[in-house]
Amino acid sequence: MQKIKFILKYLKYKLTAQHRKGFGIHSPFLYHFVCEILYGKRYFYAYDDIAELRYDLLESNEEILVKDFGAGSKVMKSNVRKIKDIAKHSAISEKFGEMLFRIIEHYKPQTILELGTSLGIGTLYPATPSEKAKVYTIEGCPETAKKAMQNFEEFNAENINQIIGNIDDELPNLLNNIDKLDFVYFDGNHQKDATLNYFSQCLEKAHNDTIFYFDDIHWSAGMEEAWKEIKKNEKVTLTVDLFFSGIVFFRKELSKEDFVVRF
Ligand SMILES: C[S@@+](CC[C@H](N)C(=O)[O-])C[C@H]1O[C@@H](n2cnc3c(N)ncnc32)[C@H](O)[C@@H]1O
Repeated sequence: MQKIKFILKYLKYKLTAQHRKGFGIHSPFLYHFVCEILYGKRYFYAYDDIAELRYDLLESNEEILVKDFGAGSKVMKSNVRKIKDIAKHSAISEKFGEMLFRIIEHYKPQTILELGTSLGIGTLYPATPSEKAKVYTIEGCPETAKKAMQNFEEFNAENINQIIGNIDDELPNLLNNIDKLDFVYFDGNHQKDATLNYFSQCLEKAHNDTIFYFDDIHWSAGMEEAWKEIKKNEKVTLTVDLFFSGIVFFRKELSKEDFVVRF
């Protein structure tokens, strides 16, 4: 039933979302964002390297014991999971990962945080455009984190700082030790209260040019509610709903507007 509802929501998005490829957008900032970044055509070598890693993970029958956190998985019920299943169901898709890469490549955030590392595919996309950017990523499952670390080593991604532990405990510790957040990828505990809690903590370290990227904003009724509250927050100006994820800007020079963009 839940699955049918989700498919219907997606169909509605596909049929009603406007602004495909910039049509009807009056904001010059958003027009540039949609045309040059979301639909950016530039090719980067890193795309192939990450695609190759994904391909290897999707072939791997190795099993690990997964410690389940938060909202868990809608499709993987056992705690002993094959790497190929984790890669298939948890990792950011190629299309969205490459879009994440383009956002980072364009805005050049220096302090990046990912909540929920999994196998590290979603960490490598933002970590590869600039070796100078410091990337923090928090994962609660030790065996999954170990696999991610192997992937980071394979990529010589020395700018990734992996933190193993519950986001609830590790996020306040990390935020105490950093001055600002330029980009945050929220992809850990996909529950309303946790999402809003992480959002308000990260907001303390956000500034005018910070970008927040939320995964699975329409995944459940709770995530829909969280997304609505985030959009309403007085510090938030422009938001972009891409159905599978939502992007939040805080730039005071932009008027407060919420867009649904077909992607
Ligand atoms: C959807 S996956 C992340 C995928 C990854 N960001 C990517 O794009 O490839 C979510 C991950 O968050 C972790 N997680 C969920 N809740 C957590 C929590 N409260 N503390 C730490 N990790 C958590 C899970 O173990 C899982 O590996």
